[in-house]
Amino acid sequence: PVTRHFDLIISEGQGWPDGVVRDMLFINGKFPGPLIEANMGDRLVVNVTNQLTKNATAIHWHGIFQNGTNWYDGTTGITQCGIPPGKSFVYNFTVEQFGTYWYHSHYSTQYSDGIFGPLVIHAPEEANARNLYDHDQIVLVQDWYHDFSTVNLDTYLAPDNENSEPVPDNGLINGMAYFNCSLYGADSGRICYDNNTYSVLSLEADKRYRLRLINTGSFAEFEFSVDNHSLSVIEADGVLVHPQSVHRLPIHVAQRYSAVLTTNASHSTNYWLRAEMVTFCFTGTSPVLDPTTKAVISYSGNATILPSESSVDWSDPRLTICQDLDESKLVPAVEKSPPPATTLWRIDFSFGIGDHQLDRAKVNGTIWSPLINTTTLISAVDGLSGKANGNASAWAVDGQVSSFSADQFVVGVSAEAVEVVDILLYSLDEGSHPFHLHGHQFWILQKGSGPFDWGNYYTNIKPSDPRTVANALRRDTLTIEPYAWALIRFVADNPGLWALHCHITWHMEAGLLAQFMSRADVLRTMEVPRDVRALCSS
Ligand code: C2O
Repeated sequence: PVTRHFDLIISEGQGWPDGVVRDMLFINGKFPGPLIEANMGDRLVVNVTNQLTKNATAIHWHGIFQNGTNWYDGTTGITQCGIPPGKSFVYNFTVEQFGTYWYHSHYSTQYSDGIFGPLVIHAPEEANARNLYDHDQIVLVQDWYHDFSTVNLDTYLAPDNENSEPVPDNGLINGMAYFNCSLYGADSGRICYDNNTYSVLSLEADKRYRLRLINTGSFAEFEFSVDNHSLSVIEADGVLVHPQSVHRLPIHVAQRYSAVLTTNASHSTNYWLRAEMVTFCFTGTSPVLDPTTKAVISYSGNATILPSESSVDWSDPRLTICQDLDESKLVPAVEKSPPPATTLWRIDFSFGIGDHQLDRAKVNGTIWSPLINTTTLISAVDGLSGKANGNASAWAVDGQVSSFSADQFVVGVSAEAVEVVDILLYSLDEGSHPFHLHGHQFWILQKGSGPFDWGNYYTNIKPSDPRTVANALRRDTLTIEPYAWALIRFVADNPGLWALHCHITWHMEAGLLAQFMSRADVLRTMEVPRDVRALCSS
């Protein structure tokens, strides 16, 4: 293992990823941000410099466990205060896992404006999978808005906009896409360069490529496909799975898949790589939306040939609601069955309807908003250790919701030992919600709609009967379908405060976030580094 140093400089400016000029954010002057690549066991030392004029920032390493370094998880108001404009902050952690991840700002809706990049970790544990492909290729897929996220957020959070999320204006693949400027009239006030082109993946013929798909968007699920080729899925969110062949791969916000593409069709033409936005999950429609974002796959030796239009393999059924690729098809290559659960939390979420709550999300009745000038982590550590200003009684509870602040739904899951936690995540909402749990991979034990079968839960699932839960898929982001539920399990062995939230940026800012506090007994003895505390007083 080695230590790898990276510098990320966050700045603002104008950009035109699809030809439409807008204010946006950059990392090291680029969009998207640079690839961060390491081997398992390496230490990453990342110096983040905030060159924004007004706003703070913070970088989250999506899917990375941060065991022992919760304060570098990057979640503003939870594990750190924002890095103020003009200041730098160093993240310093080891990576004890492998696979496809990404990093992104976790300050309000900031990543929607450009603050993200891919994060890939290699390990000898991937040796078998490594035999299934020759080359690696990152494919970032995302929705894109032509206005700055705070403009959209203000509109969304204004009263009477219940359920009308901002509708994307376009999609991007690896930070680029075509946009038909004539869709904006001369009086639109937009500057649009019509010479923008597709992103081109120039590949070698007769090779196998591990496409590392990452949905870095804010709202839209995509169905991903490559004309005239099938895809063999081998990884979901850092978990290797037995190869599964698909033609169309649904990927929701913040999820990752590796899918092997073999470049063995006719070499005399090029092919469309398509990312189709699943638009029926939207309530509103954008006047300019083209739901299919395309890039060119070229192994013909001539990247300028435009692919023909009509060669999609439609034999896979289209989605009929926003949902994940069926988990039962994704069988982890390394069997790891969940231990019996020691505790269960039911979390109901919905969007509040009422005089002052339009468009605010409720998690068991709580509307999250980020703490300012402190974090739940600092409050917990100080409270548990009885330090000055710490409120020990607010944190003295085990298996209880902490009462220290009305807008922070914090579940204390393991005051004195490692607990195995089941969460029944129940949606009382008509939308689809890609939920992410920080710091862990969870098993997906059951999904359904309608009433939950408690009898079956207590007799079979909680005690981990192998017939019901053996080798269930593990991942870190799953989609909860409309008015449906999922039962997930994780081992709470990671001391800290961990967010569980809908990754749709608009929904998180509307309050759709809960926190789990793990290993209070260890947290009590941990020292939050001085520079992390200092962020809260600058
Ligand atoms: Cu990818 Cu809480 O985030």
